[in-house]
Amino acid sequence: KILILDFGSQVTQLIARRVREAHVYCEVHPCDVSDEWVREFAADGQLKGVILSGSHASVYEVDDKAPDAVYELGIPVLGICYGMQTMAQQLGGKVEGSHTREFGYAEVRARGHTALLKNIADFTTPEGHGMLKVWMSHGDKVTELPPGFKLMASTDSCPIAGMADESRRFYAVQFHPEVTHTVQGRALLERFVLEICGTTPDWVMRDHIAEAVEKIREQVGDEEVILGLSGGVDSSVAAALIHRAIGDQLTCVFVDHGLLRLNEGDMVMDMFVGKLHAKVIRVDASDQFLGHLAGVSDPEAKRKIIGREFVEVFKAEAAKLTASGASTKGAKWLAQGTIYPDVIESGGAKSKKAVTIKSHHNVGGLPEQLGLKLLEPLRDLFKDEVRELGVALGLPHDMVYRHPFPGPGLGVRILGEVKKAYADLLRRADAIFIEELRSTVDPHSGKTWYELTSQAFTVFLPVKSVGVMGDGRTYDYVVALRAVQTSDFMTADWAELPYSLLKKVSGRIINEVRGINRVTYDVSSKPPATIEWE
Ligand code: XMP
Repeated sequence: KILILDFGSQVTQLIARRVREAHVYCEVHPCDVSDEWVREFAADGQLKGVILSGSHASVYEVDDKAPDAVYELGIPVLGICYGMQTMAQQLGGKVEGSHTREFGYAEVRARGHTALLKNIADFTTPEGHGMLKVWMSHGDKVTELPPGFKLMASTDSCPIAGMADESRRFYAVQFHPEVTHTVQGRALLERFVLEICGTTPDWVMRDHIAEAVEKIREQVGDEEVILGLSGGVDSSVAAALIHRAIGDQLTCVFVDHGLLRLNEGDMVMDMFVGKLHAKVIRVDASDQFLGHLAGVSDPEAKRKIIGREFVEVFKAEAAKLTASGASTKGAKWLAQGTIYPDVIESGGAKSKKAVTIKSHHNVGGLPEQLGLKLLEPLRDLFKDEVRELGVALGLPHDMVYRHPFPGPGLGVRILGEVKKAYADLLRRADAIFIEELRSTVDPHSGKTWYELTSQAFTVFLPVKSVGVMGDGRTYDYVVALRAVQTSDFMTADWAELPYSLLKKVSGRIINEVRGINRVTYDVSSKPPATIEWE
C-alpha cells in the first residue's frame, strides 16, 4: 500500500485516483499524523511508499511538515509541490518565498538520469534535452538542494523543479503530476508507485466498496439518511452503496415529474425495491409538474419551474422523514451522488475555502434548508470509477452505462409548451430509437451504436406535417433524432449513424407511434448547436 499525506491541496484526491488507477491500494491521511502513527501504519510491512501532497498554503504561512518517521522507514518518498518544499526543508535544503506565483502550463527540462524520469519526456529540444509539459502552481521554491540530493528537473523561473536522492529513493517535483495537464503525470506516478516502490498492481474496485462501506457506517452511526434518487448513474450508485452500508437506515425519495422516459419509474422501483430491497418512496407528482408547465413555452422558464417544483416536492417528502412521520428518530443526513468532477466544477478542488458542495441541478442548497448533514460517498470518484463501482455493487450494466439524462427530462425535449400527450408520444418514439441503438452492432468495432454514441435521444417538435398512410392522408407531428459523440459534452459531433439504422428507426416510429408521421435526423454539431434542443 501507499500512504498519501495530505497537506491540504485540493488536488490530493487526484493523487489517490492516479495510484488507484495503477491498481495499487492507497490511503490519504492528514499530514499531521504522529511519528508513532506512521510507524504503526508501516508495521505490517505492507507500506511500500509515501507521497507528500501539495498545499494551498506557503511553507511560510504554515509550519506543516511530514512526520520525521516518513524519512526513516527506508521506503521511497515522493514530494509534490509543497511536499517537495517541506522535504527540502526537513532534509537540510533551502526554500525561499517569492512574490510571484507561477501558475499554469510550464515546460520542464527533465534529467533522465534518475530512475523516476528515465525515458519519460514529451519532446526533445534541439540540444537533446528531454522536456516535460507540466502544470505548476506555486509561489515558494526550493533554492538549495538538501545534502545527498541532485537536480532532477528545472525551468527558467524555477531552477530546482525536481530533485532526487536515489540512494534513499527520495524524489520530489515542484509541478503536479496528478493533474491531467501534466502530460506524463500518470506515467511518472506509475513509475514511482509500481517500479520505485515495488507495489503489486492488484487493487480493484471491490476493495474500495469495503472501505467506503466502513466509512459510511462510521460517519452515519445509527442515524437515518435520505437520498433523492433520480434513476441516473450517480444517484443510483450512491443509493446502492449507502444501502449496502446501512440497509434500512436509508430511505430514497424518487420524484416522478412525469417527464421521465418510457417505464423509467417502474424500472427504478424494480431495481431498488425489487432486487436491492431498499426503501424507496415513489412520489408521482406528474400532475403537479404538468399543471405548472401549462402555457409556458420559454425554455428557461420551463427549467426554472421544473427545478423549483422538484425542490418543493422533495422538501415536502424529506420533511415527513425528518420529523416524526415515517421514522421514529427522523433523518439526520441528506445523501447526494456528487462526484469528483462536480467538486472540481464548483471550485471545491481549487481552494480550501471555496464552496465544496455542488449545487446539484435539482437539490442545491437543500441540506441547509432541511437542517441535514451532507453525505457524499462518491465525492472522490470519477465517472468511470462510479460506473465500475456500480457494476461491482451489482447494478445492471445497462443502468450504469446509461447516457446522461438531463434533470428537467423530457421537459427540454418537447419544444415549447409541455403537454402530457406530447410526452406520451415522445416516450414511445424515444424508446424505439434507444432500443434500435442498443441492438445494432457496428461490425468494425463490435460495439453497439448505443455504446458508440455519448448521448442519443428523440426530440418532439410540436408542428404538424402531411403524410400518407394506406389510402389516407395524415396530418401529424414530427420528431427529430439526435445522437452525438463527445468526450466532455462541451463540444460534440453529430454521430454518423448508418443509414440502415436510421431507416429502421424511422420506419418503426412512424408505423408504431400513431400521431407521428415524420422523423428527421439532427446533423448539427456543438457548437454552434447545443446537444439538447432547449
Ligand atoms: P447542452 O444542451 O448544453 O447539454 O449541449 C450538455 C449536457 O448537459 C445536459 N443538460 C442538462 N443536465 N440539467 C441537467 O441535469 C439541465 O438542465 C441540462 N441541460 C442540459 C445535456 O443532456 C448534455 O448531456
